[in-house]
Amino acid sequence: MPRLTTYLTSQVRRLVMSRVGAQGIDLSKLDKVPDQMAWPLRREGADPVPRVGELRERAPVAKLTSFFGMNVWLVTGEREVKQVLADTSSYSNDIRPFVGRKGSVTDGDIGGLGFTDPPEHTRLRKLLTPEFTMRRLERLRPKIAEIVEHQLDVVEEQAAATGAVDLVPSFAFPVPFLVICELLGLPDEDRETFRQLGSARFDVSYGGQGVFGAVSDSRKFLMEATRKQRSDPGPGLIGQIIREHGDEINDFDLGGLADGVFTGGLETSASMLALGTAVLLDHRDDYRRVAEDATVVDRTVEELLRYLTVVQIAFPRFPRRELTIGGHTVRPGDVVVCHLAAANRDSRAGSRMDAFDVTRPVGAHLAFGHGFHRCVGAELARMELRTAFPALARRFPDLAVATDELDYRRLSIVYGVDSLPVRLAPEAALR
Ligand code: HEM
Repeated sequence: MPRLTTYLTSQVRRLVMSRVGAQGIDLSKLDKVPDQMAWPLRREGADPVPRVGELRERAPVAKLTSFFGMNVWLVTGEREVKQVLADTSSYSNDIRPFVGRKGSVTDGDIGGLGFTDPPEHTRLRKLLTPEFTMRRLERLRPKIAEIVEHQLDVVEEQAAATGAVDLVPSFAFPVPFLVICELLGLPDEDRETFRQLGSARFDVSYGGQGVFGAVSDSRKFLMEATRKQRSDPGPGLIGQIIREHGDEINDFDLGGLADGVFTGGLETSASMLALGTAVLLDHRDDYRRVAEDATVVDRTVEELLRYLTVVQIAFPRFPRRELTIGGHTVRPGDVVVCHLAAANRDSRAGSRMDAFDVTRPVGAHLAFGHGFHRCVGAELARMELRTAFPALARRFPDLAVATDELDYRRLSIVYGVDSLPVRLAPEAALR
C-alpha cells in the first residue's frame, strides 16, 4: 500500500508538473493573488461576504476559477468540507509542485505539517502530539494566566498614559506569542527577533512573495534555535523532542515542525483574541457573563471560534485521483479549497448560523479543521481563550471600542484586525 501511494503520488506530481508547464507554477513569484481566486477571503466585519453564503446555498462545491489551466474548486458546504478533509487517501496536502520546488520529500522547503503527506506527516505529527496532551499542557496553564495578567497590566499602564490603548500590540498579539515562546522553550534573548517574524505571514495581499518569504525566514530562525539546543536541550517542546526523539529527527525537520507550531499558533490565536473581544464588546451581556459565570466560558469560546472562523480556509487539498464531490468531478492537477468560515455557517447544520448566539447547542464546528490535519494546538488555543476573555472582562468591565471603524485585514487567510483601539472607561468611548 505505501508503495502504491508513493507511485500514485509521483504520478500525480508528474501530471501536475506537465499540466503547469516545464517551469511549474511558482506561487512565490506572483506579486498579487488574482481576484477571481481571492474574493472568498474577503469579509464584511465578522461575516464572510454575502457572495460566499449565496454560493454555498446554491452550489456547496463550485469551480472557483481555472488558473494556468488548473481548476480551483471551492467547497463551502459543511458536509462536503468534512467529506474532503476526512478523505486523506484521496487528497494530498503536498504543495511543493506549485511553489517552484521539485517533488522530492527531502528537499521540501515549505515546512510545517499542513503541507505534508503521510508517511512524513504521520512521523512528524507523532513527535508533536505528546507535547499537546492535556497532561503536558497543564504545565502551561499557570504560565498562561500569568502572561494574561501581565499583559493586562501593560494595557492598564498604557491607558493611564494615553487614554486609549491598542489591544492588538498590548494584549492580543503578546499573549499567544509569549505562550508559544514558553511552549517551544525559546530563551528570552531570541524572543524579539522571533516576534518580528510573526506578522505579514499570512497576508496574501502582498502576493506569494510575502507569504513564502516569511515562511523561510522564521524557519531558518527556528532551525538555528534547534541547532543551539542540540547540545543543551531547553525546557520546552524543542528540547523535549530532542531529549526523547533526537536521533529520529534532524534540525531541518524539527525547525520546520517548530515553525509550523509558531505559524499555526500565533496569528490564529491573536486574531481570535482581538476579534473575539470586538464581538463580545458588541454583545455586552455576553461580555459581562464571561466575567461573572465560569459555566458560560467554554460555550462562549466555542461560539466565538465558530462565528469568527479566523482560519478562513483549510490547507489546499490536491486530488490524487479522479473523484466526485458535490456532483462535480475533480481530478489530479486540480486544487480543492475548503472554506471553513462558510461551512461553519451552513444553514443545513443549524439555525440562524449567521448570528452570534452563545445559547446555541455546542456542536462540532470546523474552526480547527477536521480529519488528520485537524489543528494540533486546538486545546492550547482553547486554554488561552478560556483564560484571556474572562480575565479581560473582569479587569475592564467597562471596556469599549474607541473607533467607529475597525481596521479589518483586507485579504488574509487568517482573518483579523491589525489594531483594536479601546478605552477602559465607557464615558470616554466613541461608540
Ligand atoms: C484559535 C486558534 C487556532 C485556530 C483557529 C487554528 C486553526 C487551524 C486550522 C483550521 C488548521 C488546519 C486544518 C486543515 O487544513 O485540515 C490548523 C492546523 C494546525 N494548527 Fe492550528 N489553530 C489555532 C491555534 C493553534 C495553536 C495554538 C497551535 C500550536 C501552538 C496550532 C498548530 C497547528 C498545526 C501544527 C497545524 C497543522 C496540523 C497538521 O497539518 O497536522 N494551531 N489549525
